Amino acid sequence: MRETVVSGIRPTGNLHLGNYFGAVKNFIRLQNEYNSYFFIADYHSLTTHPKPEDLHGRVKTILVEYLAAGLDPEKATLYVQSDVPEVLELYLFLNMNAYVGELERVTTFKEKVRKQPDNVNAGLLTYPTLMAADILLHNADFVPVGKDQEQNLEKARDFAGRFNFIYGKEYFKIPQAFNFGNELVKVPGLDGSGKMGKSEGEGNAIFLAEDEKSIRKKVMRAVTDGGPTQLNQEKPEAIQNLFTLMKIVSKPETVQFFDDAYNNMSIRYGDMKKQLAEDIVAFTAPLRERIIELSNDDEYINKVARTGAEKARESASKTIREVRDIIGFRHF
Ligand code: ADP
Ligand code: TRP
Repeated sequence: MRETVVSGIRPTGNLHLGNYFGAVKNFIRLQNEYNSYFFIADYHSLTTHPKPEDLHGRVKTILVEYLAAGLDPEKATLYVQSDVPEVLELYLFLNMNAYVGELERVTTFKEKVRKQPDNVNAGLLTYPTLMAADILLHNADFVPVGKDQEQNLEKARDFAGRFNFIYGKEYFKIPQAFNFGNELVKVPGLDGSGKMGKSEGEGNAIFLAEDEKSIRKKVMRAVTDGGPTQLNQEKPEAIQNLFTLMKIVSKPETVQFFDDAYNNMSIRYGDMKKQLAEDIVAFTAPLRERIIELSNDDEYINKVARTGAEKARESASKTIREVRDIIGFRHF
Protein backbone atom coordinates (compact mmCIF):
# COMPACT_ATOMS: atom_id res chain seq x y z
CA MET A 1 0.00 0.00 0.00
CA ARG A 2 1.15 3.53 -0.74
CA GLU A 3 2.32 5.66 2.16
CA THR A 4 0.25 8.68 3.16
CA VAL A 5 1.22 12.34 3.06
CA VAL A 6 -0.75 15.19 4.66
CA SER A 7 -0.13 18.93 4.57
CA GLY A 8 -2.03 22.21 4.76
CA ILE A 9 -1.68 25.93 4.28
CA ARG A 10 -3.65 28.60 6.12
CA PRO A 11 -5.81 30.86 3.91
CA THR A 12 -4.30 34.15 5.00
CA GLY A 13 -3.42 35.75 1.67
CA ASN A 14 -2.08 34.80 -1.73
CA LEU A 15 0.60 32.19 -2.31
CA HIS A 16 4.06 33.69 -2.71
CA LEU A 17 7.29 32.26 -4.10
CA GLY A 18 8.26 31.11 -0.58
CA ASN A 19 5.07 29.06 -0.26
CA TYR A 20 5.57 27.71 -3.76
CA PHE A 21 9.21 26.63 -3.53
CA GLY A 22 9.05 25.79 0.19
CA ALA A 23 5.83 23.79 0.17
CA VAL A 24 3.60 23.54 -2.92
CA LYS A 25 6.36 22.37 -5.27
CA ASN A 26 6.96 19.43 -2.94
CA PHE A 27 3.22 18.69 -2.88
CA ILE A 28 3.25 18.52 -6.68
CA ARG A 29 6.05 15.95 -6.66
CA LEU A 30 4.50 13.95 -3.83
CA GLN A 31 1.06 13.62 -5.37
CA ASN A 32 2.49 11.24 -7.97
CA GLU A 33 3.98 8.81 -5.50
CA TYR A 34 1.92 8.99 -2.32
CA ASN A 35 -1.60 8.76 -1.10
CA SER A 36 -1.78 12.54 -0.62
CA TYR A 37 -4.10 14.87 1.28
CA PHE A 38 -3.60 18.60 0.82
CA PHE A 39 -6.01 20.90 2.55
CA ILE A 40 -6.74 24.54 3.29
CA ALA A 41 -6.50 25.15 7.01
CA ASP A 42 -9.47 27.49 7.45
CA TYR A 43 -10.28 26.37 11.01
CA HIS A 44 -6.71 27.29 11.94
CA SER A 45 -7.15 30.72 10.41
CA LEU A 46 -9.89 31.55 12.95
CA THR A 47 -7.22 32.21 15.60
CA THR A 48 -6.78 35.64 14.03
CA HIS A 49 -10.54 36.36 13.72
CA PRO A 50 -11.09 36.87 9.96
CA LYS A 51 -14.25 38.71 8.95
CA PRO A 52 -17.12 36.38 7.93
CA GLU A 53 -17.40 38.15 4.58
CA ASP A 54 -13.72 37.49 3.84
CA LEU A 55 -13.39 33.84 4.83
CA HIS A 56 -14.82 32.04 1.81
CA GLY A 57 -12.97 34.23 -0.67
CA ARG A 58 -9.67 33.56 1.04
CA VAL A 59 -10.25 29.83 0.93
CA LYS A 60 -11.15 30.01 -2.75
CA THR A 61 -8.01 32.02 -3.48
CA ILE A 62 -5.76 29.31 -2.06
CA LEU A 63 -7.71 26.53 -3.77
CA VAL A 64 -7.41 28.30 -7.13
CA GLU A 65 -3.71 28.94 -6.59
CA TYR A 66 -3.05 25.35 -5.49
CA LEU A 67 -4.65 24.16 -8.73
CA ALA A 68 -2.91 26.75 -10.90
CA ALA A 69 0.42 25.76 -9.38
CA GLY A 70 -0.13 22.15 -10.44
CA LEU A 71 -1.91 20.23 -7.70
CA ASP A 72 -4.05 17.68 -9.46
CA PRO A 73 -7.40 16.67 -7.93
CA GLU A 74 -7.22 13.40 -9.87
CA LYS A 75 -4.02 12.47 -8.07
CA ALA A 76 -4.29 14.07 -4.62
CA THR A 77 -7.22 14.66 -2.32
CA LEU A 78 -7.59 18.46 -2.17
CA TYR A 79 -10.03 19.67 0.45
CA VAL A 80 -11.08 22.46 2.74
CA GLN A 81 -10.50 21.61 6.41
CA SER A 82 -13.93 22.84 7.55
CA ASP A 83 -15.63 20.54 5.01
CA VAL A 84 -14.34 17.64 7.11
CA PRO A 85 -15.60 18.40 10.63
CA GLU A 86 -14.51 14.91 11.78
CA VAL A 87 -11.15 16.55 12.51
CA LEU A 88 -12.76 18.42 15.42
CA GLU A 89 -13.66 15.23 17.22
CA LEU A 90 -10.09 14.00 17.00
CA TYR A 91 -8.94 17.48 18.13
CA LEU A 92 -11.09 17.07 21.24
CA PHE A 93 -9.76 13.58 21.99
CA LEU A 94 -6.14 14.70 21.55
CA ASN A 95 -6.71 17.78 23.72
CA MET A 96 -7.60 15.52 26.67
CA ASN A 97 -4.02 14.30 26.69
CA ALA A 98 -2.29 17.52 25.64
CA TYR A 99 -0.95 19.43 28.62
CA VAL A 100 -1.21 23.20 29.02
CA GLY A 101 2.44 23.39 30.09
CA GLU A 102 3.79 21.73 26.96
CA LEU A 103 1.53 23.81 24.69
CA GLU A 104 2.71 27.00 26.37
CA ARG A 105 6.29 26.06 25.54
CA VAL A 106 5.71 25.88 21.77
CA THR A 107 7.71 28.72 20.17
CA THR A 108 5.05 29.66 17.61
CA PHE A 109 2.64 30.13 20.56
CA LYS A 110 5.12 32.26 22.46
CA GLU A 111 5.66 34.34 19.33
CA LYS A 112 1.90 34.92 18.93
CA VAL A 113 1.64 35.94 22.59
CA ARG A 114 4.26 38.57 21.87
CA LYS A 115 2.71 39.68 18.56
CA GLN A 116 -0.98 39.72 19.57
CA PRO A 117 -1.07 40.10 23.38
CA ASP A 118 -4.73 41.18 23.23
CA ASN A 119 -5.85 37.97 21.56
CA VAL A 120 -4.22 35.03 23.32
CA ASN A 121 -7.17 32.68 22.80
CA ALA A 122 -7.40 28.99 23.63
CA GLY A 123 -7.41 28.14 19.92
CA LEU A 124 -3.96 29.63 19.66
CA LEU A 125 -2.73 27.53 22.58
CA THR A 126 -4.20 24.35 21.11
CA TYR A 127 -3.12 25.14 17.51
CA PRO A 128 -0.62 22.22 17.62
CA THR A 129 -3.38 19.82 18.73
CA LEU A 130 -5.57 20.78 15.77
CA MET A 131 -2.58 20.40 13.47
CA ALA A 132 -1.88 16.97 14.98
CA ALA A 133 -5.54 16.05 14.39
CA ASP A 134 -5.19 17.09 10.71
CA ILE A 135 -2.23 14.79 10.35
CA LEU A 136 -3.47 11.82 12.39
CA LEU A 137 -6.95 11.98 10.84
CA HIS A 138 -5.46 10.27 7.77
CA ASN A 139 -2.81 8.39 9.76
CA ALA A 140 -0.05 10.13 7.80
CA ASP A 141 3.44 8.73 7.36
CA PHE A 142 4.90 12.02 6.14
CA VAL A 143 4.24 15.73 6.48
CA PRO A 144 5.97 18.08 4.02
CA VAL A 145 6.39 21.43 5.78
CA GLY A 146 8.99 24.12 6.09
CA LYS A 147 11.44 24.45 8.95
CA ASP A 148 9.16 26.83 10.84
CA GLN A 149 6.68 23.98 11.39
CA GLU A 150 9.14 21.48 12.86
CA GLN A 151 8.05 21.97 16.45
CA ASN A 152 4.35 21.69 15.64
CA LEU A 153 5.10 18.42 13.90
CA GLU A 154 7.07 17.29 16.95
CA LYS A 155 3.90 17.81 19.02
CA ALA A 156 1.92 15.70 16.55
CA ARG A 157 4.47 12.93 17.01
CA ASP A 158 4.19 13.26 20.81
CA PHE A 159 0.39 13.14 20.74
CA ALA A 160 0.33 10.12 18.44
CA GLY A 161 2.77 8.21 20.63
CA ARG A 162 0.93 9.21 23.79
CA PHE A 163 -2.41 8.04 22.44
CA ASN A 164 -0.87 4.71 21.47
CA PHE A 165 0.72 4.37 24.90
CA ILE A 166 -2.39 5.28 26.88
CA TYR A 167 -4.58 2.83 25.01
CA GLY A 168 -1.91 0.15 24.69
CA LYS A 169 -2.28 -0.06 20.94
CA GLU A 170 0.00 0.97 18.06
CA TYR A 171 -2.86 2.68 16.30
CA PHE A 172 -1.36 5.93 14.98
CA LYS A 173 1.80 5.97 12.95
CA ILE A 174 4.40 8.46 14.17
CA PRO A 175 4.43 11.04 11.35
CA GLN A 176 7.75 12.23 9.98
CA ALA A 177 8.80 15.47 8.33
CA PHE A 178 9.28 15.07 4.63
CA ASN A 179 11.90 16.68 2.48
CA PHE A 180 13.61 15.70 -0.72
CA GLY A 181 17.18 15.00 0.35
CA ASN A 182 18.77 18.21 1.51
CA GLU A 183 16.38 20.36 -0.40
CA LEU A 184 14.63 22.06 2.50
CA VAL A 185 14.63 25.49 0.92
CA LYS A 186 14.20 28.80 2.59
CA VAL A 187 13.23 31.42 0.03
CA PRO A 188 14.61 34.83 1.04
CA GLY A 189 12.60 38.04 0.87
CA LEU A 190 13.46 41.18 -1.07
CA ASP A 191 14.04 43.43 1.92
CA GLY A 192 17.59 42.25 2.53
CA SER A 193 17.01 40.01 5.51
CA GLY A 194 15.17 36.89 6.56
CA LYS A 195 12.61 34.88 4.61
CA MET A 196 9.93 35.72 2.13
CA GLY A 197 6.61 35.92 3.96
CA LYS A 198 3.34 37.74 3.68
CA SER A 199 3.61 39.21 7.17
CA GLU A 200 7.13 40.55 6.61
CA GLY A 201 6.08 43.89 5.19
CA GLU A 202 5.28 45.51 1.86
CA GLY A 203 7.58 44.63 -1.02
CA ASN A 204 9.19 41.63 0.64
CA ALA A 205 7.17 38.90 -1.07
CA ILE A 206 6.36 38.15 -4.69
CA PHE A 207 3.03 36.46 -5.22
CA LEU A 208 2.15 33.88 -7.87
CA ALA A 209 -0.80 36.03 -8.92
CA GLU A 210 1.19 39.24 -9.14
CA ASP A 211 1.22 41.17 -12.41
CA GLU A 212 4.42 41.74 -14.35
CA LYS A 213 4.69 45.45 -13.69
CA SER A 214 4.44 44.99 -9.97
CA ILE A 215 6.99 42.13 -9.99
CA ARG A 216 9.50 44.30 -11.86
CA LYS A 217 8.92 47.19 -9.50
CA LYS A 218 9.42 45.07 -6.39
CA VAL A 219 12.57 43.40 -7.69
CA MET A 220 14.10 46.70 -8.83
CA ARG A 221 13.50 48.04 -5.32
CA ALA A 222 15.18 45.08 -3.60
CA VAL A 223 17.83 46.12 -1.10
CA THR A 224 21.46 46.08 -2.32
CA ASP A 225 24.66 47.85 -1.33
CA GLY A 226 27.46 49.92 -2.93
CA GLY A 227 28.96 46.86 -4.62
CA PRO A 228 32.00 44.68 -3.88
CA THR A 229 35.21 46.48 -3.03
CA GLN A 230 37.54 43.49 -3.17
CA LEU A 231 37.98 40.56 -5.54
CA ASN A 232 36.14 37.37 -4.49
CA GLN A 233 34.63 39.07 -1.50
CA GLU A 234 32.06 37.28 0.68
CA LYS A 235 28.51 38.45 -0.09
CA PRO A 236 26.56 40.37 2.53
CA GLU A 237 23.09 38.99 3.36
CA ALA A 238 21.03 41.22 1.06
CA ILE A 239 23.21 40.34 -1.94
CA GLN A 240 23.35 36.66 -1.04
CA ASN A 241 19.53 36.72 -0.95
CA LEU A 242 19.36 38.03 -4.53
CA PHE A 243 21.67 35.24 -5.63
CA THR A 244 19.61 32.67 -3.74
CA LEU A 245 16.45 33.88 -5.46
CA MET A 246 18.22 33.80 -8.79
CA LYS A 247 19.34 30.20 -8.19
CA ILE A 248 15.71 29.29 -7.65
CA VAL A 249 14.24 30.86 -10.79
CA SER A 250 17.07 31.40 -13.29
CA LYS A 251 19.28 29.19 -15.43
CA PRO A 252 22.57 28.06 -13.82
CA GLU A 253 24.59 29.92 -16.46
CA THR A 254 22.78 33.16 -15.60
CA VAL A 255 23.67 32.76 -11.93
CA GLN A 256 27.25 31.90 -12.90
CA PHE A 257 27.49 35.03 -15.06
CA PHE A 258 26.52 37.37 -12.21
CA ASP A 259 28.55 35.42 -9.68
CA ASP A 260 31.65 35.88 -11.84
CA ALA A 261 30.78 39.55 -12.26
CA TYR A 262 30.51 39.90 -8.48
CA ASN A 263 33.81 38.20 -7.93
CA ASN A 264 35.68 40.37 -10.44
CA MET A 265 33.82 43.48 -9.21
CA SER A 266 32.25 44.33 -12.56
CA ILE A 267 28.70 43.56 -11.38
CA ARG A 268 25.90 46.06 -11.95
CA TYR A 269 23.09 45.31 -9.56
CA GLY A 270 20.60 47.06 -11.84
CA ASP A 271 21.36 44.53 -14.59
CA MET A 272 21.18 41.63 -12.19
CA LYS A 273 17.81 42.76 -10.84
CA LYS A 274 16.46 43.28 -14.35
CA GLN A 275 17.43 39.74 -15.26
CA LEU A 276 16.02 38.37 -12.00
CA ALA A 277 12.73 40.22 -12.58
CA GLU A 278 12.45 38.81 -16.12
CA ASP A 279 13.11 35.28 -14.90
CA ILE A 280 10.51 35.61 -12.14
CA VAL A 281 8.01 36.99 -14.66
CA ALA A 282 8.73 34.11 -17.05
CA PHE A 283 8.15 31.62 -14.25
CA THR A 284 4.99 33.18 -12.81
CA ALA A 285 3.26 34.38 -16.01
CA PRO A 286 1.70 31.03 -16.95
CA LEU A 287 0.63 30.46 -13.35
CA ARG A 288 -0.99 33.86 -13.21
CA GLU A 289 -2.86 33.20 -16.42
CA ARG A 290 -4.15 29.96 -15.00
CA ILE A 291 -5.14 31.67 -11.73
CA ILE A 292 -7.26 34.18 -13.63
CA GLU A 293 -8.84 31.43 -15.71
CA LEU A 294 -9.66 29.24 -12.72
CA SER A 295 -11.01 32.03 -10.55
CA ASN A 296 -13.69 32.55 -13.17
CA ASP A 297 -14.63 28.89 -13.26
CA ASP A 298 -16.72 28.52 -10.11
CA GLU A 299 -18.34 25.38 -11.38
CA TYR A 300 -15.00 23.57 -11.61
CA ILE A 301 -13.70 24.95 -8.31
CA ASN A 302 -16.88 23.87 -6.51
CA LYS A 303 -16.63 20.42 -8.02
CA VAL A 304 -13.00 20.04 -6.91
CA ALA A 305 -13.84 21.11 -3.35
CA ARG A 306 -16.87 18.82 -3.10
CA THR A 307 -15.09 15.77 -4.51
CA GLY A 308 -12.10 16.41 -2.24
CA ALA A 309 -14.30 16.74 0.84
CA GLU A 310 -16.04 13.49 0.03
CA LYS A 311 -12.77 11.59 -0.34
CA ALA A 312 -11.28 13.16 2.80
CA ARG A 313 -14.39 12.34 4.84
CA GLU A 314 -14.16 8.71 3.86
CA SER A 315 -10.69 8.42 5.33
CA ALA A 316 -11.60 10.67 8.31
CA SER A 317 -14.74 8.81 9.32
CA LYS A 318 -12.89 5.50 9.29
CA THR A 319 -10.29 6.92 11.70
CA ILE A 320 -12.94 8.44 13.97
CA ARG A 321 -14.87 5.16 14.11
CA GLU A 322 -11.75 3.25 15.08
CA VAL A 323 -10.58 5.86 17.60
CA ARG A 324 -14.01 5.94 19.28
CA ASP A 325 -13.88 2.21 19.61
CA ILE A 326 -10.38 2.28 21.11
CA ILE A 327 -11.42 4.97 23.62
CA GLY A 328 -14.38 2.86 24.68
CA PHE A 329 -17.44 4.55 23.21
CA ARG A 330 -20.15 2.02 22.47
CA HIS A 331 -23.40 2.49 20.61
CA PHE A 332 -26.64 1.73 22.43
P1 ADP B 1 3.85 33.02 5.58
O1 ADP B 1 5.18 32.88 6.27
O2 ADP B 1 3.91 33.86 4.38
O3 ADP B 1 2.73 33.38 6.52
P2 ADP B 1 2.83 30.34 5.84
O4 ADP B 1 3.32 30.38 7.26
O5 ADP B 1 1.37 30.37 5.62
O6 ADP B 1 3.51 31.54 5.04
O7 ADP B 1 3.49 29.06 5.13
C1 ADP B 1 2.82 28.07 4.41
C2 ADP B 1 3.87 27.04 3.96
O8 ADP B 1 4.87 27.65 3.13
C3 ADP B 1 4.62 26.38 5.11
O9 ADP B 1 4.83 25.00 4.81
C4 ADP B 1 5.93 27.13 5.15
O10 ADP B 1 6.97 26.34 5.69
C5 ADP B 1 6.17 27.45 3.68
N1 ADP B 1 6.93 28.72 3.53
C6 ADP B 1 6.49 29.97 3.80
N2 ADP B 1 7.44 30.91 3.54
C7 ADP B 1 8.53 30.23 3.10
C8 ADP B 1 9.85 30.63 2.66
N3 ADP B 1 10.22 31.91 2.60
N4 ADP B 1 10.71 29.67 2.26
C9 ADP B 1 10.34 28.37 2.29
N5 ADP B 1 9.13 27.92 2.70
C10 ADP B 1 8.21 28.82 3.09
N1 TRP C 1 0.54 25.17 10.65
C1 TRP C 1 0.78 25.13 9.23
C2 TRP C 1 1.34 26.48 8.78
O1 TRP C 1 1.15 27.48 9.44
C3 TRP C 1 -0.49 24.83 8.46
C4 TRP C 1 -1.05 23.50 8.86
C5 TRP C 1 -2.18 23.28 9.58
C6 TRP C 1 -0.50 22.22 8.55
N2 TRP C 1 -2.39 21.94 9.75
C7 TRP C 1 -1.38 21.27 9.13
C8 TRP C 1 0.63 21.80 7.87
C9 TRP C 1 -1.14 19.90 9.02
C10 TRP C 1 0.88 20.43 7.77
C11 TRP C 1 -0.01 19.47 8.35
O2 TRP C 1 1.98 26.55 7.74
